[in-house]
Amino acid sequence: MSITRDDAGELRLGGLKLSEVATSPTYGTPTYVYDLDGMDREALELAAAFEGHPHLVCYAVKANSAAPIVRSFAKHGLGADVVSAGELLFALGAGVSADLVVMSGVAKTDEEIDLALGAGPRGILALQVESAEEVARVEARARALGRVARVSLRINPGLDPSEIHTHANIATGHDEAKFGVPLPRVPEALARIAESNSLTLSGLTCHVGSQFTTTDAYEGGAKVLFSLAKDALARGIALDYVDTGGGFGIDYGGGCAARPADFVRKARALAKVYGVDHLRHLVEPGRSLVGSHAVLLAKVLQTKSDRPANERVAGDPERRWLMIDAGMNDLMRPALYQSNHRVVPLALPSSASATASARVVGPVCESSDDFGLHTLPIEPFSHVALLDAGAYGYSMASRYNGRPLPAEVFVRGGRIVAAKERAPLRAWADERLSIAEE
Ligand SMILES: Cc1ncc(COP(=O)(O)O)c(C=O)c1O
Repeated sequence: MSITRDDAGELRLGGLKLSEVATSPTYGTPTYVYDLDGMDREALELAAAFEGHPHLVCYAVKANSAAPIVRSFAKHGLGADVVSAGELLFALGAGVSADLVVMSGVAKTDEEIDLALGAGPRGILALQVESAEEVARVEARARALGRVARVSLRINPGLDPSEIHTHANIATGHDEAKFGVPLPRVPEALARIAESNSLTLSGLTCHVGSQFTTTDAYEGGAKVLFSLAKDALARGIALDYVDTGGGFGIDYGGGCAARPADFVRKARALAKVYGVDHLRHLVEPGRSLVGSHAVLLAKVLQTKSDRPANERVAGDPERRWLMIDAGMNDLMRPALYQSNHRVVPLALPSSASATASARVVGPVCESSDDFGLHTLPIEPFSHVALLDAGAYGYSMASRYNGRPLPAEVFVRGGRIVAAKERAPLRAWADERLSIAEE
């Protein structure tokens, strides 16, 4: 985590005083602030966990597709996991070589398949095929383009959902999920790839889910994957790599027992058990590289109470709300997954000891525009930070309710090195009004 509080009680991210951003006429609020140094440290720590074994960390661009972040990861040798034409074009533009890009997605368009096959001299490292049916589609496009498509099979390990310890909406490695090739269909998919002159198998892939705070479900997926890889090798099928996916959790305040490196170490140990440890090892982390090294800054617009001042009824606690100018359109995770982001004042009021519980909510006209109950100082304060907002924050943001997308500020060495300002307030209205009947 890159957050500190200085002696004056001011919150800082990567050394930068956050109130300077929140009160600046250029950025103001709502604004995401990212610590690029902290993100680079995460990437280096994860790579070190492979202890020199051939590997590739494919950053899942969906977690945060800001150019300064992905350019920096590319300079450190990371690849990319992309899920759309837009993300593919972005990753290539940010300096990721096509040879280091894998593309997931259960329903790729022909246009997306063509772009992936046409990238670089040999197409991307692998189109991660997610169904036996998709093998035939990729083969047809490769034939049409006169290319050999490098593919991997993203298998669905069919784990028991009760063993995938995360929110149901981000659990992917069970039979009811739309993701990955179901195990009964893996042999036919492998056979079709082996028979085709237009397809070549790069590897086998698995991604069980996201925000795991322990390694057990990840290991469960890896065991199924490695067992299939072992069988494939025994049958003379060549493999360049095994890819155990992403999903490494971060601490949103409730604790996170496993560090990203622990997932890698456990998977490496299992690879030895299955005799596949000589293969290159890919992982696809998104959240763990970026999540803890960013905040969303918001202004306190007003407070609200359910009773007149000084009317307290024993056993019936006062309901208090803190209304901020960031909403579910800026940070959707709480509305989507009931997830929690800690909310803290940027500057601690003088009597920080007196606190009370308040529900922090945004201005959007939805009941789910709710950042949950937080213990906050009673004395007024002007701005807050929502912590650990670097993953699935801006990348999921929308302009719902006619609100502009938040600004973004990038910090390195304690100073601002890049920024994206908020669109003018009228931009949304102008765009919607530009649709006119002839
Ligand atoms: C195929 C695939 N790989 C990687 C990721 C990244 O997961 P995380 O951000 O939890 O590391 C996802 C997330 O949805 C995914 O679907």
